[in-house]
Amino acid sequence: MNIRRLRVEDLAGMQACNLQNLPENYTNKYYLYHAMSWPQLSYVAEDHKGRIVGYILAKMDEEAGEETEPHGHVTSISILRSYRRLGLAKKLMLESQEAMATIYRASYVSLHVRKSNRAALGLYRDTLGFTVEDIEKKYYADGEDAYAMKLSLKP
Ligand code: ACO
Repeated sequence: MNIRRLRVEDLAGMQACNLQNLPENYTNKYYLYHAMSWPQLSYVAEDHKGRIVGYILAKMDEEAGEETEPHGHVTSISILRSYRRLGLAKKLMLESQEAMATIYRASYVSLHVRKSNRAALGLYRDTLGFTVEDIEKKYYADGEDAYAMKLSLKP
């Protein structure tokens, strides 16, 4: 399994992976926006034939004005079912976090996750050290609450 930066030609594979794994889906334009604006922050995991089996789509937060510290945000991450528990999501997260900190001087990374998402919570909280900053009521389209989570990237 190989991990590398997202390329524009990966968008279809990445979108297919997202559609299989998550109810939160995005337009081509939104994927392109990430890839063109912050090309160092999004990565894919590919199998030996170059098929995309996982991805992380990430950005810098545009709301961060001059007073607030610049910070990264994970828009979406997922791994195809048969490639889970191999450490791929952890590697994708660490690659993106490293680029946020070194290239964009991000002081922290944020994300939203469903309260019921045990696997993702295990990854974020237990493996990577994120903490819950807030609960955003009815954040998702189906009415489920989100945990707003955060991890400091300061050395
Ligand atoms: N149950 C409990 N803990 C888990 C689970 C699970 N099913 N899966 C992963 N973890 C935790 C464990 O601590 C694991 O370490 P360990 O294997 O040494 O015990 C650690 O996370 C790292 O696991 P990885 O193998 O790197 O995770 P994986 O590649 O399987 O991907 C992911 C995890 C992305 C959550 C995957 O299950 C998935 O694609 N789920 C569906 C999509 C999804 O929920 N994406 C996140 C939505 S939130 C957002 O996108 C910001």
